[in-house]
Amino acid sequence: MCGIVGYVGDRKTTEILLEGLNKLEYRGYDSSGIAIKSQDNIQIIKSEGKISDLEKKVENSSLIESKLGIAHTRWATHGEANETNAHPHQFGKVTIVHNGIIENERELKEELINKNLIFKGETDTEVAAAVINNCYQKDPIEAITKAMELLNGSYAFGIIFNDQNKLYAVRKDSPLIVGIGTHENFIASDIAAIIKYTDKYILLEDNEIVELSQDGVNVYKNGKKISKKIEISTMSIEEANKGNYKHFMLKEIMEEPIVLQRTINKYINKMDDIFDVSNYDEIHIVACGSALYAGMIGKNLLEEKANIKCITECASEYRYKKVIYDRKTLVILVSQSGETADTIAAMRKAHECGIETLAIVNVKTSTIAREAKYQLFIEAGPEIAVATTKAYLLQVAMFSLIALKAANKKGLEKEYDDILQEAKLLPEKLKKVLNDKNIFKVVGKELMHKDDAFFIGRGIDYSMCQEGSLKLKEVSYIHSDAYQAGELKHGTISLIEDGMPVFAIITDKKIKDKTESNVIEVEARKAQVYTITNDKTLKTHHFKYVVEKISDYFQPILIVPPLQLIGYFTADSRGLDIDKPRNLAKSVTVE
Ligand code: M6R
Repeated sequence: MCGIVGYVGDRKTTEILLEGLNKLEYRGYDSSGIAIKSQDNIQIIKSEGKISDLEKKVENSSLIESKLGIAHTRWATHGEANETNAHPHQFGKVTIVHNGIIENERELKEELINKNLIFKGETDTEVAAAVINNCYQKDPIEAITKAMELLNGSYAFGIIFNDQNKLYAVRKDSPLIVGIGTHENFIASDIAAIIKYTDKYILLEDNEIVELSQDGVNVYKNGKKISKKIEISTMSIEEANKGNYKHFMLKEIMEEPIVLQRTINKYINKMDDIFDVSNYDEIHIVACGSALYAGMIGKNLLEEKANIKCITECASEYRYKKVIYDRKTLVILVSQSGETADTIAAMRKAHECGIETLAIVNVKTSTIAREAKYQLFIEAGPEIAVATTKAYLLQVAMFSLIALKAANKKGLEKEYDDILQEAKLLPEKLKKVLNDKNIFKVVGKELMHKDDAFFIGRGIDYSMCQEGSLKLKEVSYIHSDAYQAGELKHGTISLIEDGMPVFAIITDKKIKDKTESNVIEVEARKAQVYTITNDKTLKTHHFKYVVEKISDYFQPILIVPPLQLIGYFTADSRGLDIDKPRNLAKSVTVE
């Protein structure tokens, strides 16, 4: 995934583009670049590394006067992350930035090389620029339309033509919005990039081409002008900023009680009207990364409490495997961004098989939100840190409510009303846990020099371990694995050595003694055991943190935030760039 921003208007184009890139840096940050246009000249400045590196280059350049420009921050797919491969790419009269992947790049490139065209880098984007240039006579809309017939794959392009003073853009399977200002207009991968200047935007649909001048925006489909609705964003400028926090990740963890309150208030009395999973015989929960781990908690609750058969599968496997739909099945897609390529493909596979889909999603304008048959929107607001925290927690909360309602519908939950009352108190209980953040800071300091860690638990506790382990490794770069506590002794226990941190999650009272005996096994091998539990009677090993015991449906909501804080503080103790961990991007819009 990459970030695109484009501008046409009277302000300082370079400033707008760089500001926008900074807001989009979470989408990819291994190289970046801008292209600005004057009446008869296009100036391109690119840099390997972070946007701050590009900013330094821009500062040291003498810039042309410009009212029009495009910019890009990259998460490398085709070709190394270096300056040559950084966007924008220019070919002939065409300069473009691109988010997505051109799948037939190799064939197209060969054809073009046979016509004696020469390419500078290894990207599919340069090939796309050449294709558009080849299609260009003098009508940009016609050229883009023709090029779309030749390009397979996913794309959002921002395009400038040498001999046109307008900005062009098009999308297919990759997000792009058009920002509508006063005597100025924008394109962006998301509204955060331009919210400082406008809250009005148009959502481009697949295969729609947009032409922007300072005073007008025209959208075309199949060569014809079409009219589009102008939407108003509810994002505030503060939401897109870090405020007094050192990192977005910490800000977003500390926002959890507020967003949880918002989500619970929205659904607690209305879930049955919106969606009822008790109508289905089997549920497939399909997602990637943390969203999948939230789904694993959902599976556990749906099976244990509502007696509904449930499987979880990562979307990159589900999209290609043989899936047997022999019961009345619902596919639940879980995604913060709603743009994860594998999850989108899994959803489309379900649709092709005539299966109903429900999306648990944060971004309301996203592809998954728009294409799934049913939607439940979590109310996380913008999540900027690459590592998800508040969105994950709300996905879990949504599953808790879904399972509770389904269990009640099936007459399986006798304490339904009491549990609902408890749900309303959850944000306050979570606040108390987060107020203990300095305890986890100390744990983070202890971990900073470790090389490995393990997380162990059984049942629903294991699902929480998966998320705790992912959080630790993705932001602190400490190798970490999650294991079903009983499985460790079948091989992995050979890795346990003196001082190795092992986190044990113990909340499920049915199996707590079993996990406790696994803890004793690793402690006997000199592991340093950190227990996070809801049972104050458990023995303290190296460290124990006890949260309040609440209903099983909601217990994960008090257990996972300490794990998120441990990941955060470990990375902070190591002085890492927490909001933009190496090699990652916020949402993975390519396979
Ligand atoms: O936007 P999505 O929820 O679909 O993203 C899914 C995963 O890519 C995401 O959760 C990823 O695992 C994060 N790095 C976790 O912090």
